[in-house]
Amino acid sequence: MKYEAKNCVMGGNALRAVTTLLIICVHVLALENGLARTPPMGWLAWERFRCNTDCKNDPDNCISDKLFRTMTDIVVSEGYADVGYEYINIDDCWLDKERSYSGHLQADAERFPYGIRDLSDYVHAKGLKFGMYEDYGNYTCAGYPGALGYLETDAQTFASWNVDYVKLDGCYSHPRDMDVGYPEFGFHLNRTGRAMVYSCSWPVYQIYAGMQPNFTKIIEHCNLWRNFDDIQDSWASLESIIDYYGNNQDTIIPNAGPGHWNDPDMLIVGNFGLSYEQSKTQMAMWAILAAPLLMSVDLRTIRAEYKAILQNKKIIAVDQDPLGIQGRRIYKHKGIEIWARPITPISNSYFSYAIAFLNRRTDGTPSDVAVTLHEMGLVAPGGYRIEDLYEDVDYGVLTPQTKIKVKVNPSGVVILRADVQPSFRHSTPFNPFRQIFRPGLPNTF
Ligand SMILES: *[C@@H]1O[C@H](CO)[C@@H](O)[C@H](O)[C@H]1NC(C)=O
Ligand SMILES: *[C@@H]1O[C@H](CO)[C@@H](O)[C@H](O)[C@H]1NC(C)=O
Ligand SMILES: *[C@@H]1O[C@H](CO)[C@@H](O)[C@H](O)[C@H]1NC(C)=O
Repeated sequence: MKYEAKNCVMGGNALRAVTTLLIICVHVLALENGLARTPPMGWLAWERFRCNTDCKNDPDNCISDKLFRTMTDIVVSEGYADVGYEYINIDDCWLDKERSYSGHLQADAERFPYGIRDLSDYVHAKGLKFGMYEDYGNYTCAGYPGALGYLETDAQTFASWNVDYVKLDGCYSHPRDMDVGYPEFGFHLNRTGRAMVYSCSWPVYQIYAGMQPNFTKIIEHCNLWRNFDDIQDSWASLESIIDYYGNNQDTIIPNAGPGHWNDPDMLIVGNFGLSYEQSKTQMAMWAILAAPLLMSVDLRTIRAEYKAILQNKKIIAVDQDPLGIQGRRIYKHKGIEIWARPITPISNSYFSYAIAFLNRRTDGTPSDVAVTLHEMGLVAPGGYRIEDLYEDVDYGVLTPQTKIKVKVNPSGVVILRADVQPSFRHSTPFNPFRQIFRPGLPNTF
């Protein structure tokens, strides 16, 4: 199930009409099931609906067939599918407490009266894809039957239900066993012949156990994986995740690419814990991080302004950029951060960029940030066309020497897209992050 995939970055030389293709390839051995070429997008139950199994007293919010059909309907009818959200994913607490007599997983019969295959068919009939949850250990995190001892059976069960995406959690297992166990389940998924996105919790449990995950191996077997804590409904939780990815970026970023992604966990935009500004921050930062966009929110009651954030096509386009290069923090000082992600188009081997200015300060007034494109590593001689991705501001084409000024609200973000313009000076090819350096910005914020 492995073969050699190449993450390639191509740049055409515009100067010579002949197409001299400059190809920079990082050779990685990656899981190649043809899936998740861009980060998966969809809806996932966990963060918002948790393990609510009380359908008697709370029939509209319990983990049930009805909840997933309702969310499926809304993803289609309210425009989420149109902008790219496609997976409807079950998380923990869908199972009966016991396997069947034949040893197969079975859904809780009261909450899923028509069975999982019927629900899967419903999701597919709506043009969407269907995701499932299990756990590599003896139990799921909430105490339902785990996959240990049944890896092959469970992979076959998921295939027979036409599942498109499997998240395999790691509770009640030994992190040391995961280097064998996660690949083994992946092997069985592959053997079913049904292509299923494979989401692994493998590295995060190993990190918790003080181990150093072997990412070379994880990339070979998983389409995405969790690195850090579960997201909770708070700004503090979101900040801790942003810090984790920034502080560990040198080891984390190289692992991302088409077919294999770091997963900083669900989007919580539209819930209770984030303000409007903070919600914009999560969406922008997830795009910079090339993160899966899995909304966990009640789509029946979400307010229009939060829906607009989740459906921001320009930011989604950054997240889904075909190069699949994860962005990095290039500046951090006195509560102001600048993050940059190389994206298409490429001209003359210069990348375009998404740039996020993040204000972590708590003084309640917007902070001014003024910086030249050159200081951020945007040095293409032809300049860049700069556009704000939340506000309808087009800065036009700016040269690298131009100082750009933005006002960033407290706990908010300004996200720009800088599309490189063709130039006539030939440059030597370089990898995307050679362009990006830690800029010597003035500490004037
Ligand atoms: C199984 O693995 C092989 C080899 O990597 C790959 O070509 C094939 O697409 C995979 N099939 C599925 C269903 O994942
Ligand atoms: C899983 O259950 C088996 C059988 O009871 C037991 O031997 C094993 O130690 C358990 N594994 C973990 C990781 O708890
Ligand atoms: C990590 O995994 C790779 C690929 O499976 C393997 O070649 C390598 O030896 C492993 N590294 C360590 C330190 O175990």
